[in-house]
Amino acid sequence: MKTHIYTKETLKEAADQIKKWEIVAFPTETVYGLWADAFNIEAIEKIYQVKGRPSDNPLIVHIASISQLENIAFIPEIHKNVIHRLLKIYWPGPLTLILPKKACVLDIVSGWLDTVAVRMPKNRKTLRLIQLSGTLLVGPSANLSGKPSSTKYQHVLHDFDGKIQGVILDSPTSIGIESSVLDFSTQIPTLLRPGSISLEELTEHIPELFYSEQIIDWKVKSPGMKYKHYSPQARIILFEQSAINKINTSKIQYEAEWKKVRVIFPETYKNFWKKLFDLFRDSDIQHYDIILIAAIDETFAGRAIMNRIRKATSQTII
Ligand code: TXA
Ligand code: MG
Repeated sequence: MKTHIYTKETLKEAADQIKKWEIVAFPTETVYGLWADAFNIEAIEKIYQVKGRPSDNPLIVHIASISQLENIAFIPEIHKNVIHRLLKIYWPGPLTLILPKKACVLDIVSGWLDTVAVRMPKNRKTLRLIQLSGTLLVGPSANLSGKPSSTKYQHVLHDFDGKIQGVILDSPTSIGIESSVLDFSTQIPTLLRPGSISLEELTEHIPELFYSEQIIDWKVKSPGMKYKHYSPQARIILFEQSAINKINTSKIQYEAEWKKVRVIFPETYKNFWKKLFDLFRDSDIQHYDIILIAAIDETFAGRAIMNRIRKATSQTII
C-alpha cells in the first residue's frame, strides 16, 4: 500500500478513505492520531493490528461538537455540574473524559469496559475531518505500540509508511504530549493520565480529584497504563533529583565501553514537553545506545513529563 500525503486542500479525500474503512493519520493539538470510523469493527481491527496494540487497551472516541458527547456516553448526575464546567473551559482541547458508555459503543473500542473515553480535539483540520467523515473517529496516538508518540508527520511515516492509507502534511503538534485522561465513571473522579492540563489546575475545579502513580489495578482502571510505553531503542536511565550529580561520571563510564550516550537535562529546554518524543525518536535515528536523563519536579507540567519518562525508563538511579 502506498501511503498518501494529504493537505488542507484534500481533506475531503482523506474523509472519503475513512468512510471506506481505511486509516488516515492526522494531527491534533497534542500528538498525531491514527483515525478510523469508531463504528466499524473492521477499520478498528486494522488499527490494533497496524499499531501492534493489545486488544484490551481501549481507544478514545473523538467528537467534533459537544452535542455529540451524549450520543455515546452518559453524564453521571453526581458529576454533571463539574463536567459541564470543564467542557466549557477545556473543550475543544487536551482533556479526555471517561464516562459510562451507551450501547452503541463497540466493545472493541471500549476494551470490553462499561465506559468510553471521549475527547474533542482542538485542531481545525481534525474537527473538519470528523465532520466530513460523517461519523465519530477513534484516534489512538500514531505510533507503534510501546514507541514514543508522534508529534511530526515524519514520525508517522517512520512508523507507518506503506501500512496506512494516508497522513496529513502539517506542522509539529503544538502541545506535544497526550491529553489528560479524567475518569468520571466512579464516585470520586480520578486522573488516569496526567497531561498538559495539570493536576493542580484540575483540582481547582474538582477538589476531591484522586491521582496516584501507584494505582494498583491499572488493568481495571485504564488498561493502557500498565504497558511499557514511549520507549526509544536506546536504553533510558533516569537519575532522580538526588542522583543528578552522578550523570557526568556515568556518561564517562559508558563512553569508555564504546557506547554512544545522550544526556538530557529537561530544564535546559523551553517547553520541554513539546520536545520529549522528538528527542526520543531522534536518538534512534542518531543511533544512541543510552540516554541519561535528569528527573524534574513532578508538579504541574512536570508531572506529565515525568510520567512519560518513567514509563520509558529501564533503570532508575537514586
Ligand atoms: O492526546 C490524545 O489523547 C491522543 C490524541 C491522538 O487524541 N490520543 C491518545 O490515544 O493518546 P491512546 O490510545 O494512545 O491513549 C488512550 C489512553 C490509553 O491509556 C487507554 O488505556 C485510555 O486512554 N483509555 C481509553 N479508553 C478508556 C476507558 N474506557 N477507560 C480507561 N482508560 C481508557
Ligand atoms: Mg498512545
